[in-house]
Amino acid sequence: MPDLRKTLGYLYLHDTKFTRKNIRERERPAIAPAPAFKEYPAAAKIELPLAQARPTADLWQLLQQRRSRRSFSGSPMSLEDLALLLWACQGVTAQAGPFLLRTAPSAGALYPIETYVAAERIQGLAPGLFHFNVRNFQLERLTDQAAGPLVARAALDQSFIGQATAVFIWSAMLRRNMAKYGQRGLRYICMDAGHICQNLLLAAGALGRQGCPVAALYDDELSELLGLDGVEESVLYLAPVG
Ligand SMILES: Cc1cc2nc3c(=O)[nH]c(=O)nc-3n(C[C@H](O)[C@H](O)[C@H](O)COP(=O)(O)O)c2cc1C
Repeated sequence: MPDLRKTLGYLYLHDTKFTRKNIRERERPAIAPAPAFKEYPAAAKIELPLAQARPTADLWQLLQQRRSRRSFSGSPMSLEDLALLLWACQGVTAQAGPFLLRTAPSAGALYPIETYVAAERIQGLAPGLFHFNVRNFQLERLTDQAAGPLVARAALDQSFIGQATAVFIWSAMLRRNMAKYGQRGLRYICMDAGHICQNLLLAAGALGRQGCPVAALYDDELSELLGLDGVEESVLYLAPVG
């Protein structure tokens, strides 16, 4: 049985603790920041239609009924519903100085998480991999081949992922957060991703859909599929919705 105190996980948590002593002595991390927004200027853009009349749903019931579901009908989804789900993940709801505040909270309003979608059966949208452009509320097309089964393979061959109508994938831009929070920032990055995923799952429930959070994945394989270098930006988490 390994000594817990010698594990990488424990050492990370231990070495990134705030104490009353170190809180005053901390040095600024020597990590250069990254741009606050990611865009693919050359990619084809798809405007996301944000419905003004959103479906009403009872929050308490959604919380009561939320379950991780791994079986999907694969029924098509409208672009309006996809737009609502993306808005639930990272939609801009207010501005405070330079910060575009969102539906999900983020440490320091730094928003280190990027959202991608493997859209399989979205009405009027040929399947492919897309990046969600938060600032312009657009999808940016990265590929024009169905990617669901490839994402499933990169997620430890969890085949149910390939049956989803859309798979939401989240990556971390480490510098955005760690330039301010240093090593401790990784804690916050993971928390940010968790908030976004729960927003998505509740919103999916409100649309009569279901999903499953997934963190068991071959990190580098999935990063490569998205064209990410796995250093500046690396995948963390995903959720199929169907
Ligand atoms: C961080 C995280 C990672 C998860 N990874 C997977 C996964 O890779 N595959 C899977 O089938 N379920 C995964 N799950 C779903 C959990 O198995 C599920 O949340 C748990 O069994 C509790 O069930 P419930 O979500 O239905 O309440 C994950 C959940 C979380 C929060």
